[in-house]
Amino acid sequence: MSVNRRNFLKIAGSSAIILPATACSTGADSARLPWRATDSYSDPMRRSLSYALLAPNPHNKQPWVVELTSETQATLMCDLDRLLPETDPYSRQITIGLGCFLEQFRIAAQEFGFKADITAFPDGYDDKKLDARPVAHLRLSPLEQAIPSPYFAHILNRRTNRTLYTEQVPSSQTLEAITHDLGEGILAGFTNAPEPVARLQDITVIASNIEFDTPRTYMESVDVMRIGARENNETPDGIALEGPMKEALHRLGFLTRKNLADMDSAMFRTGREDYARGIKSAHGFVWVNTPANTRLDQIKAGAAYLRLNLNATAHGLAMHPLSQALQEYVEMQEALGLIHHLLDIEDGARIQMFARIGYAKPVVPAPRWPLEAKLIQA
Ligand SMILES: Cc1cc2nc3c(=O)[nH]c(=O)nc-3n(C[C@H](O)[C@H](O)[C@H](O)COP(=O)(O)O)c2cc1C
Repeated sequence: MSVNRRNFLKIAGSSAIILPATACSTGADSARLPWRATDSYSDPMRRSLSYALLAPNPHNKQPWVVELTSETQATLMCDLDRLLPETDPYSRQITIGLGCFLEQFRIAAQEFGFKADITAFPDGYDDKKLDARPVAHLRLSPLEQAIPSPYFAHILNRRTNRTLYTEQVPSSQTLEAITHDLGEGILAGFTNAPEPVARLQDITVIASNIEFDTPRTYMESVDVMRIGARENNETPDGIALEGPMKEALHRLGFLTRKNLADMDSAMFRTGREDYARGIKSAHGFVWVNTPANTRLDQIKAGAAYLRLNLNATAHGLAMHPLSQALQEYVEMQEALGLIHHLLDIEDGARIQMFARIGYAKPVVPAPRWPLEAKLIQA
């Protein structure tokens, strides 16, 4: 039986083609090498950094650069060519990702018997714009006794899972346990109650559609989509579109960057609808707030989000950050105010991370650049 173009798109559309790689599609293997290379480093700095670079970060831009001073000292910088000026105009999310990186570094160092002293923004910062000043100085000193971290065991299994979640509702007890005690000054929240979940789904879908329908913000995602194993191996960052179905669509010329960029195309519509379907499958949401919104708050929010994501992993829960309603560009202003109002956030406080949480099939790890690509020698 032959499959004509229209039917083929229908079949493809019904199988969530735009959602990134699932567990059965491990195509781009060298892109995942850093997930298996963590223990190939003998000095404590490189070894801890090899875990840090597996941290969650917006659009998987991996904006970190580390200048090594010695086997125990280094400086973390932000690669200013890896910002997201349209969806993240003040680099708030990029800074949160750097906070995730620093916390994963600290957890790994502790596991290997080192205390990590992290001085964030030692030369100061600009709240509106990240600049060439260091993000953090890192210094390791041996602990008298290793203090194993409860988080460490979950680093290699942590994922962002964008697939559909099952009907199983995460329990209040579990959500309470994983959002508890995420760091000083951090206020985390959750809901699994049908009515607030429905309202949060609605505002999140509206916000997601605003990002999809605004060409300059949508294109920021298209620019980082890596289609097929070859592209992911060559450029192991951004959002991976892989798996047998996507490879086939790509070979046949349906799944291309040009089609994805065409806002009248079936590919665009499918991507937009799939994202909304993912949101609508959620039976729980979690969020991380800070009392203010300085760079230091954002770094702390990253640490808190990382711990939350690792806690969720430990409990067998999947998570998917949904940042659209939290973004600062003009088209999103109303949604940003609305979500703060819905979650009853005090004046001046800021929701830094908002994510759906639930049960889902596992997904493969996201690509990463190897550590060597991110190091510079002082
Ligand atoms: C600050 C921040 C914001 C994020 N926002 C989104 C988002 O809105 N949508 C999404 O699909 N993923 C979002 N993510 C998840 C990243 O895309 C993900 O961490 C990255 O692709 C690497 O994948 P991994 O977490 O599986 O290692 C966000 C992550 C961070 C740290």
